[in-house]
Amino acid sequence: MNISKTKQALQSYLDGARKAKLRIALVPTMGALHEGHLSLIKEAQKIADVVVCSIFVNPTQFNDPQDLEKYPRPEENDLRLLQEVGCDIVFLPTVDEMYPSTDQPWHLDLGKLEQVWEGEKRPGHFQGVTQIVYKLFQLVEPDVACFGQKDFQQVMVIQRLIDLKNLSVSLHIAPTVRSAEGLALSSRNMRLSEAGKQKSLALYRVLDHIQQHFKTEDLHTLREEALAILEQEGEIELEYLAICETRSLQEVDHIDSSKKHVALLVAWVEGVRLIDNMILD
Ligand code: PAF
Repeated sequence: MNISKTKQALQSYLDGARKAKLRIALVPTMGALHEGHLSLIKEAQKIADVVVCSIFVNPTQFNDPQDLEKYPRPEENDLRLLQEVGCDIVFLPTVDEMYPSTDQPWHLDLGKLEQVWEGEKRPGHFQGVTQIVYKLFQLVEPDVACFGQKDFQQVMVIQRLIDLKNLSVSLHIAPTVRSAEGLALSSRNMRLSEAGKQKSLALYRVLDHIQQHFKTEDLHTLREEALAILEQEGEIELEYLAICETRSLQEVDHIDSSKKHVALLVAWVEGVRLIDNMILD
């Protein structure tokens, strides 16, 4: 496995792949890798010849400096996992490498997409995400980029980036990896006790309930039922639950059969913010 720490080292490694007309996949991550990330690498391996995984805790997407400082950086373990799964290249740049002082300010017009849900809760977050992903796209020039469905709004934002910048990369969205009981895998789950993990399964039950019934029940009733599931479990603090049209992520009050919908859910368990979603149709 090649480990490149500079853009130059990565470029010279990728030059060979480009000359050989190999198909390149990029899996951008912030490290602290778990099965969810590894499944992205495995999907990438199926659709490309060379898989590049970037590990970079991107400062511009954090609006809380403490959150950035506390973000786990288990580099040795990440590299071991990537080696085991057979990743070809790991790109491990420093902050100075990705954000040289000559950098121009970044702003992308994401419209309403960044004014709702995660965008509203974390102002500037998606500007930071698009800024770093654009830099990585420019550098790696991947044929395909793999992202997890778990961060659904992020995927929609990246698609918007691709459209706005007219990029030729195609987006591969990999399904959320869940524990056997349904909990969406996340680096944050490490901070939950066993009891907390059990409690968090209510999130999956809520989404599953919505998916089972959205065609036959009105959305107001469905929402009440979903909230009752969370209340029954207790000690879960709901941040938001919404049924939205998938592209715009605007909340809907009825299902339009000509469109696709997604249920978005964020809740807190034991002080841990858990995010999940389910595509409904
Ligand atoms: O999903 C993440 O881990 C990050 O937002 C990403 C896409 C790697 C950009 O820093």
